[in-house]
Amino acid sequence: MEILQATFISSVADLAKCPPPDKPEFAFIGRSNVGKSSLINMLANRKQLAKTSNKPGKTQTINHFIINDIWYLVDLPGYGYASVSKSLKAGFGKIIDNYVLKRENLDCLFVLLDARLEPQKIDLSFLEWAGTAGVPIALIFTKSDKLSANELSKTMKRFKDVLTQYWEEVPPSFITSAETKRGQAEVLNFIDEVIRN
Ligand code: GTP
Ligand code: MG
Repeated sequence: MEILQATFISSVADLAKCPPPDKPEFAFIGRSNVGKSSLINMLANRKQLAKTSNKPGKTQTINHFIINDIWYLVDLPGYGYASVSKSLKAGFGKIIDNYVLKRENLDCLFVLLDARLEPQKIDLSFLEWAGTAGVPIALIFTKSDKLSANELSKTMKRFKDVLTQYWEEVPPSFITSAETKRGQAEVLNFIDEVIRN
């Protein structure tokens, strides 16, 4: 699939104000500054569809875009920057909790992980929390342009080793770069397949 049309729809701080759940939806989440907004621009071949910044915490709302008139793409706020609760039960803040747990047309939540870092506590907590709640997840390792192939396979292996401790099956995973466009076709084809099934 190629993104031929990408249009901003809304930026809201409340699940109830999201567009009606009448289309397949794919959302992007991860720690602040992991590269969510940059990845969305890369997938859409746009420079400023989603707002990016080198200051963590740029995206604070639920941002819907309609793609090819068929599906919704969603840029979410980062977790682990603002007031993230220490207790797993309390979740990751009201906006994220409500959206992730209650958005009925959410077909896949892409969880972005910085390919340069070993598994971070907050990422593992998020994966455990969302996984336990039965949210459909895929992993995206971002900023791969900053690593050698060898370093990259080391991080991925470390992640998979940790995840297999509590997931029977490790979720689908992708390696991306907003700089080189690595992973663009793979992620879009995956979305296409999910929509068709
Ligand atoms: P918040 O909205 O604050 O949660 O951040 P975000 O996850 O949307 O991150 P954003 O896309 O704004 O990117 C954060 C910083 O990382 C920016 O300075 C980007 O230029 C940089 N960045 C993002 N993706 C990549 C990448 O693939 N490669 C490199 N080298 N830098 C990247
Ligand atoms: Mg952002």
